Amino acid sequence: MTPAWSIRRLHAVDESQVDALAGVLIDCVEGGASVSFMQPLTRERAVAFWRRVAQGVAAGERALLIAEDTEGLCGTVQLIFDLPENQPHRADLAKMLVHRRVRRQGLGAALMHAAEATARECGKTLLVLDAVTGGDAARLYERLGWQRVGDIPGYALYPDGRLCSTTVFYRTLAASDG
Ligand SMILES: CC(C)(COP(=O)(O)OP(=O)(O)OC[C@H]1O[C@@H](n2cnc3c(N)ncnc32)[C@H](O)[C@@H]1OP(=O)(O)O)[C@@H](O)C(=O)NCCC(=O)NCCS
Repeated sequence: MTPAWSIRRLHAVDESQVDALAGVLIDCVEGGASVSFMQPLTRERAVAFWRRVAQGVAAGERALLIAEDTEGLCGTVQLIFDLPENQPHRADLAKMLVHRRVRRQGLGAALMHAAEATARECGKTLLVLDAVTGGDAARLYERLGWQRVGDIPGYALYPDGRLCSTTVFYRTLAASDG
């Protein structure tokens, strides 16, 4: 079956895309996701975040993937390349966000596959990420074969202020994978 969305990498991010990305981020934070921001996340702060991301994309410091369906931008994920010079072979995977209206249809998995393919194309052989322990995202990463390193209790806050534990994951990418 043809997926209901398409995924592509943005090499430049325009203002309408910044606005749509802000909408997805706000939806995730309103849904209780621990993704760096506290509630309430105003559109102004969300837009400011994505404008900084857009600068990083323009500078080649990060790769930004977006998913779109007939209603617009509905998911995103990033690879961060701006790392110390002794880690040229790796990237951090960050801000995996799927709008609540399209969850549990396989888009999260599709974004992960696309991010891994992009990392491989960029010559990366190691990816690292962290996720709320035992959450939807952690389950997704384990299912996709990411290696669980361990948990850090009380690492961050949920948007409502409760402490949450983080699990660190990594994945090695062989050129022949995927
Ligand atoms: C984590 C997140 C990205 C997952 O996105 P998603 O698009 O729902 O992911 P998937 O659809 O690939 O998988 C989610 C679940 O749907 C199930 N699923 C996938 N396709 C399905 C289908 N066609 N029918 C029924 N269920 C399906 C999967 O098996 C999985 O089940 P599980 O949670 O019981 O393990 C999303 O929940 C999200 O954005 N959360 C908030 C932000 C966040 O926490 N990001 C992670 C930061 S580390």
